[in-house]
Amino acid sequence: MDPTSFCAPSSSGSSSSTKAWIVHGLVVGAAVVVALGAHAYLYLGRSGKFRSRVIGIIPARFASSRFPGKPLVQILGKPMIQRTWERAKMATKLDQVGTERCNEALQKLEKKYDVVVNIQGDEPLIEPEVIDGIVKALQAAPDAVFSTAVTSLTPEDAFDPNRVKCVMDTHGYAIYFSRGLIPYNKSAKVNPEYPYMLHLGIQSYDTKFLKIYPELPSTPLQLEEDLEQLKVLERMAIR
Ligand SMILES: *[C@@H]1O[C@H](CO)[C@@H](O)[C@H](O)[C@H]1NC(C)=O
Repeated sequence: MDPTSFCAPSSSGSSSSTKAWIVHGLVVGAAVVVALGAHAYLYLGRSGKFRSRVIGIIPARFASSRFPGKPLVQILGKPMIQRTWERAKMATKLDQVGTERCNEALQKLEKKYDVVVNIQGDEPLIEPEVIDGIVKALQAAPDAVFSTAVTSLTPEDAFDPNRVKCVMDTHGYAIYFSRGLIPYNKSAKVNPEYPYMLHLGIQSYDTKFLKIYPELPSTPLQLEEDLEQLKVLERMAIR
């Protein structure tokens, strides 16, 4: 195992292994046309080809600043990363599960993949259904470049900036991600009636998009919130 860093920027500082992994919804990040500087445009979904070839990658960062060696911490006698891997193997939508930096791993592999699922190594409780769910969500939205999952936000987490909130449109497309509470009630309090959404630390990407994603220049909202995925939403063109 290659001790590597995160392949694609992880959105939240979510290591919420204690959270109940009840999927409340799946979100697809819409980026119909992502401008690539001046020279190229990415027309994803234009080919009309169903993105059937899927790989799951667990990027493990051994030299974590917060917790060195964290992926190898034992949980009930097995390293955390192995637990995560075993759960991921149970997902039926994945052809393969590997543990390397996404882009590097993709280049090394002989087979080509359409979709890569980025499974955080410190999420040993990830439900295989969540993995399958985000793959299906991306496959069902040919105009989307990434998909992710949300669950219900507990009221205690409402004002925690490390818990990333998400709002989506009626079709399940992400409108915005924020460290602040969204939507925000007029009363300036948490509305106990409202089903707030917490963003989970798992994403699946179109592999063509993933190649250019790290190189996309930063955008103002991304920098302000320190949420990588916002640079996709900020460039979004709606067709
Ligand atoms: C705000 O929250 C309260 C409950 O705290 C709810 O009754 C109300 O409908 C919500 N929305 C507005 C616009 O006040």
